[in-house]
Amino acid sequence: MPADGRFLKACRREQAGGTPVWFMRQAGRYMPEYRALRRRHSILDLCHHPDLAAEVTLQPIHRLGVDAAILFADILLPFEPLGLGLSFAEGEGPQIARPIRSAADVAALPPVDPLEDLAYVLEAIRHVVAALPAGIPLIGFAGAPFTLASYAIEGGASRGFAATKRFMHTEPRAWHALLERLAELVGRYLAAQAEAGARALQLFDSWVGCLAPEDYREYVQPHSRRAIELARAAGVPVIHFATDTAGFLEDFAAAGGDVIGVDWRIPLDVAWQRIGSARAIQGNLDPAVLLGPLSTIETRTRDILARAGGRAGHIFNLGHGVLPETPVEALQAVVELVHGQ
Ligand code: CP3
Repeated sequence: MPADGRFLKACRREQAGGTPVWFMRQAGRYMPEYRALRRRHSILDLCHHPDLAAEVTLQPIHRLGVDAAILFADILLPFEPLGLGLSFAEGEGPQIARPIRSAADVAALPPVDPLEDLAYVLEAIRHVVAALPAGIPLIGFAGAPFTLASYAIEGGASRGFAATKRFMHTEPRAWHALLERLAELVGRYLAAQAEAGARALQLFDSWVGCLAPEDYREYVQPHSRRAIELARAAGVPVIHFATDTAGFLEDFAAAGGDVIGVDWRIPLDVAWQRIGSARAIQGNLDPAVLLGPLSTIETRTRDILARAGGRAGHIFNLGHGVLPETPVEALQAVVELVHGQ
């Protein structure tokens, strides 16, 4: 096995000989070669076929020169074996045919074994790992219990998460039962991804920032902690990511993670101070900056690097996923800037 590159060293807060960089949603619609494949295959097709998933995973590695690959999959794939009925409508995002609306719906969820029911994801990991250039690790991932529950309850994308919050406040026992189920599932799923060859794991709690701090602590934190504990048992670093966590960053970090992912709504140095020097940090350029002029991209990238101050344990990333309108050149420029500092 080749020596660990900058990304894994930064996860462990070791001096990495330069800041590593990768991008959430680095495989996707901003890339012509991804759009070409998508003309022939649906997103679920790409996920279900390990050879296609591996091909998409590798596209940004060749194009951008990033320090890590992230598996092409989706956080909602476990909804298929859970029987919720997952589809992606063109331009509208995910749709859940049988959303969870009652305690009885939670009790009726079938058991899921990630090793069997999501075996195609594990197979895609083996394909990618065999094809990756030496020294480029693969990141596996899963959705966090809250963000998964929000899609399962809302039935798709949501602005205010009213149905999710109503369920949480009116059916607290069923809520905790649901999040316990999801925590066990994603914890075991993440561990299985590490066993298949992923060298790091990211838990996406993309929408948890919609909660009040006390609701995060009561209704979410124990379940995220459980999922991370199960994932970490596989012996690889875990990145715990969410957006909009400035209101409860200490509680979010306390749920676990070797690396804490933050978005652009908080300066990186302020976030790192609040998280504490015992953790690595990932972030945090606003993806929309990449739609602006190169001069702004440069200023903002350098500002984040200055705030990290060369301390061991900074992984450069956007604060959320690459927007589909992003020019490939903008991402290439960020990689060059980060590597050339
Ligand atoms: O980061 C990567 O390159 C790996 C691939 C990846 C996808 N989804 C592929 C995908 C990852 C890490 C995800 C995670 C994911 N999926 C999250 C958490 C991250 C985040 O962005 O907050 C969430 C909330 C989802 C659910 C999901 N899947 C949504 C809301 C959508 C629609 C988004 C849109 O922009 O239309 C998807 C579809 C999806 N998953 C796409 C991709 C590349 C776009 C599909 C397409 O039309 O080609």
